[in-house]
Amino acid sequence: MARRFLSGIQPSGLLHLGNYFGAIRKHVENQDDAFYFIANYHALTTLQDADALRRNTFDVAATYLACGLDPSRAVLYRQSDVPEVCELMWMLMTVTGTGLLEKGVSFKDKKARGLSGSAGLLTYPVLMAADILAVDAEVVPVGSDQVQHVEFARDMASSFNHLYGEVFKLPEYILGTPVPVPGVDGQKMSKSYDNHIPIFLSGKALKKRVMSIRTDSAAFEEPKDPDTCTVFALYSLLATPAERQALAELYRGGNYGYGHAKQALLEKIEAFFGPMRERRAYYDQHPDEVEDILARGAVRARAVARATTDRARAACGLS
Ligand code: TRP
Repeated sequence: MARRFLSGIQPSGLLHLGNYFGAIRKHVENQDDAFYFIANYHALTTLQDADALRRNTFDVAATYLACGLDPSRAVLYRQSDVPEVCELMWMLMTVTGTGLLEKGVSFKDKKARGLSGSAGLLTYPVLMAADILAVDAEVVPVGSDQVQHVEFARDMASSFNHLYGEVFKLPEYILGTPVPVPGVDGQKMSKSYDNHIPIFLSGKALKKRVMSIRTDSAAFEEPKDPDTCTVFALYSLLATPAERQALAELYRGGNYGYGHAKQALLEKIEAFFGPMRERRAYYDQHPDEVEDILARGAVRARAVARATTDRARAACGLS
């Protein structure tokens, strides 16, 4: 039996190429028997706008489905449809030191950026541990920013097990190789820098975004360095090694302008994301289908979460 993968995606805004290459693609490649959920309880710690939260939640679900998540292979659900995670979170809180949570990187970070230090923000890693432990997840694919959270989850699981017997499986993380995805200004692509290219941008808006990618001032005739160019970096994410090689040679040969390179990139984006965009448009027109998929996912996730939570309740004397 394959080990159970789990990951949560925060519905904090329209997903962009950085999210696609950093997470979505890997999730879709590794979807058999995986659990993927939309972390809307977590998002409440920073997004306090009901309509935006609902919209973003739908966006994550529709994006994953459009990008190839198959609900007959993976379990896709909304965190808040599995209330067991909150129940379990309480039990885990009673075995978690406040000192541990104050060391949490995202708490320290968000406080440093002046965001309110709500109890939700402080206890965020306990909720995340509950997400993981509730469904007996064994492997959590993460970026480096989430490693500490999975370690916390292990700590909580082993404290609980130590006190009450073997209730939880200890999860592990897999640290994916980071895929650098630059934004239009050359910095790491991020919504907060407003340098992102949304996955489903199309037509004129997409063209405008691609044409706005910052390049150096080398003249048309001059040879250019592909390795420092944002257009080339984005093209490389979408191209075959041979196509990448061919473009590098055009750069080095001179008499090739950035406008041409941007046009080549635009065509690649269209070819790569075009079919996904069509599927996305389908889900936009059939939101009930998305709802239905999430509801079925929740039933499957809850079945596991209920059993784990009952095991924990019995172990600690609640039932
Ligand atoms: N904290 C994660 C993030 O911001 C989202 C998340 C919530 C998560 N619960 C999780 C990720 C459980 C993995 C496992 O990216």
